[in-house]
Parts: sequence; C-alpha cells; structure tokens
Amino acid sequence: MKIAVGGKGGVGKTTISGTLARLLARNGHRVIALDCDPSPNMGIPLGLTHDQLLNVKAVFNHLVESGHTHHDPKPDPEHMLQLLGTPAADGVTLLETGEVVRRDDACMCCGSHASTRSLFGELAGDGRIIIGDLEAGLNDIIWAHPASEDVLLAVAEPSVKSIDIARRATRIGEALGLTRIYGIANRVRTPDDERAVADGIGRPVFVVPEDPVLARADLLGIAPLDLEPTSPAMLAVAAIAERVAESQTAAAPVG
Ligand SMILES: Nc1ncnc2c1ncn2[C@@H]1O[C@H](COP(=O)(O)OP(=O)(O)OP(=O)(O)O)[C@@H](O)[C@H]1O
Ligand SMILES: [Mg+2]
Repeated sequence: MKIAVGGKGGVGKTTISGTLARLLARNGHRVIALDCDPSPNMGIPLGLTHDQLLNVKAVFNHLVESGHTHHDPKPDPEHMLQLLGTPAADGVTLLETGEVVRRDDACMCCGSHASTRSLFGELAGDGRIIIGDLEAGLNDIIWAHPASEDVLLAVAEPSVKSIDIARRATRIGEALGLTRIYGIANRVRTPDDERAVADGIGRPVFVVPEDPVLARADLLGIAPLDLEPTSPAMLAVAAIAERVAESQTAAAPVG
C-alpha cells in the first residue's frame, strides 16, 4: 500500500505522516517513510536526533554528487532504497527524495521532484507500506502521482486557506482515479472546527485534536510519540493508522 500525505504548508503533514509510519510499523507492517520535502524533517517524528537527520543523504543529492546530470540515467528506486534507506524508530526505513543544499539543487523542472516521482511512483507497495510526506501545496501530488489503488490523506487545519488546499488536493486525487481519499482535520479544538473542515473538503474527516505535547516536542526537537505516546494527538493518529490499514481489505468509511 502507498499513502501520499498532502496539504498546505504547516498543517501537520510531517508530524502526522511520521507518527503514522511508526504506528503502522508497530502494528506489524513493513514501512518505508518517504520524505518528499526538499527541506526534509520527517526524521524527527520518526525518532532521529537532529544530528542524525542532518546526516541522512537524499537520493537526488546522492545522484548529483555521483556525477549524474539530474536524472540521467534514471535511478533504480530499489537500489536507492538499499543504498540510502536510513533505519528509524520502530523499524521504519526513512528515505529522503532530495534536499536543497546548493543553488543548483533547486531546479524547478526536476530536482528533488523527479526523485519523488520515481520513488513514490515506482517503489512497489506490495507487502509493505510506503508513506510519502509531500512538499506543501498541490504540485507534489502531481509529482508523486499516486495510482488509483493508493491512499491520499489531505490534511487541513481549521483555516479557510488550508481547507481550500485540502479540498483541491482531494479533487486532484479524484482526477487521478483514487478511491481511498481521506481528509484529516488537524488542530481541532471544537466540533465547529471539525465541521468546518469536513464541510469545506466535502467529505467526512479523521480528527486530530490540538495538542500542546506537539509544541513541547517541537521545542525539544524530538518525536511527539517518544515524548508522550498517549497524548490526544498521538491516540488520534493511532486510530487513523488502524482505519487506513483496514481500508486495504474493505472500503472502510471514515467517521
Ligand atoms: N495537532 C496539533 N496540535 C498542536 N500542534 C500541532 C498539531 N499538529 C501539528 N502541530 C504543529 O504544527 C507545526 C507544523 O507541523 P508540521 O511540521 O508537521 O507541518 P507540515 O505540514 O509538515 O509543515 P511543512 O509544510 O512546512 O512541511 C509544528 O510546530 C507542529 O508541532
Ligand atoms: Mg513537513
């Protein structure tokens, strides 16, 4: 199974996808966490220290350093996973698609995006779960190009702008033929917050409450799951992990 996690900047994609990856792994799945953000930090919710995060080599950067002209020749995704996959907490393997380090890494026509395309698109999802923490906005959904059997999680917080992006993300998912598209209302404080996101996206949503533990974990630079595994947001992500895994065998409705 492959899961793409998209949404507006800062809505909680990395916190949720990194935590989800670990909780799916704890439930017995083989999980590859694919950090598709050119400013990668999925390693933190995955339990890496900041120093360990800085030492992760991303696929695009490895290719450029080994003399490739961007994506010529095209990399073998499984080989990249073997070479650059980094062990993270709970047995998850972290793979970063590309990091902007130098001026010419930020090529708008390919760069890390081409790595996102080849890795999310071509790593097989059979017998394991690949969860992609996408770059903010809508472009990376197109780059990742989830297939009809994949899952799309569109994350929003209760703000008009982020709900709008999540709604448009679900429309792109529909256009790509996906049937398992779920909204996530993050940072929910009241039933009105949940309703605003569900109505705005136009479908029922998973709810993750506003949780002060996440701010504390952020200050310390550690995974919220390691700071307080039973905090309200962590329990909410655990529920999402179960429902998403179930959706593989049955079309589990959200709600
Ligand atoms: N449920 C929540 N309660 C409180 N704080 C939260 C919650 N979810 C996320 N946050 C906080 O919001 C901030 C952004 O979270 P995160 O980095 O996961 O977002 P993102 O969507 O990945 O951002 P970006 O678009 O920059 O990659 C972090 O400080 C995080 O701790
Ligand atoms: Mg992020």
